[in-house]
Amino acid sequence: MTLTLSRTVTAFLAWIVTAALSAQALAQPHAGHLPSFEDAEKWALLFDSPKRDARQKPAEVIRALALSPNAVVADIGAGTGYFSARLARAIPRGRVFGVDVEPNMVRYLSERARREGLANLTAVAGGPDDPRLPAAVDVAIMVDVFHHIGDRARYFRNLARYLKPGGRVAIIDHLRAPGDPPEAMFIAPNRVKEELKRAGYSVAAEHKFLPNQYFLLFKRPAAG
Ligand SMILES: C[S@@+](CC[C@H](N)C(=O)[O-])C[C@H]1O[C@@H](n2cnc3c(N)ncnc32)[C@H](O)[C@@H]1O
Repeated sequence: MTLTLSRTVTAFLAWIVTAALSAQALAQPHAGHLPSFEDAEKWALLFDSPKRDARQKPAEVIRALALSPNAVVADIGAGTGYFSARLARAIPRGRVFGVDVEPNMVRYLSERARREGLANLTAVAGGPDDPRLPAAVDVAIMVDVFHHIGDRARYFRNLARYLKPGGRVAIIDHLRAPGDPPEAMFIAPNRVKEELKRAGYSVAAEHKFLPNQYFLLFKRPAAG
């Protein structure tokens, strides 16, 4: 009971911070009441807050991806690089593409990679329906991004073209609890599974260790 209440309060506070941070920015055309991510520096205060680690468990998430040392990974909707930077450090012999559709996020991530000496991290300007990756990847991860994508059927059809044989897609997104704010932020895990199945993907794993998010892993569609 106390736990549910505190979770609801946390979700509501996160929503208020999100709304406040985006108050001066324009709404994204595809998403109506979802925020703009134009002001990367402001978003960094939220996305890269050290307080996030306790619930986001980035080390456990990266471990669960079981990446080979020379893996190529796309962090789609990378934002300010919370996961991209950690992935780049976790696989120094591998490569990470941090993809975002917001030019200011791409600029921020590129500067972050340089500032933090992450030579294996490249910021990529993705399109709304296509990640426009410069090379094929072993794993694509999307954290709190699925619900921002407009035409997901098209996006995941396009993404499949960039996945190597045996490639996987990880989707981590908000779980909705009773009383949580706007619907648009929440897409139920079963709906994600249905949509991805329709796009030809199959479920490879479902992890339950994140307190506020689901974590689904999919195998890429069979070629052909
Ligand atoms: C809520 S933020 C999450 C950022 C990051 N994944 C994290 O966990 O800190 C969502 C990000 O997805 C980006 N985004 C939205 N639609 C996108 C799309 N179609 N392709 C790539 N990025 C997208 C936004 O610009 C924003 O930076």
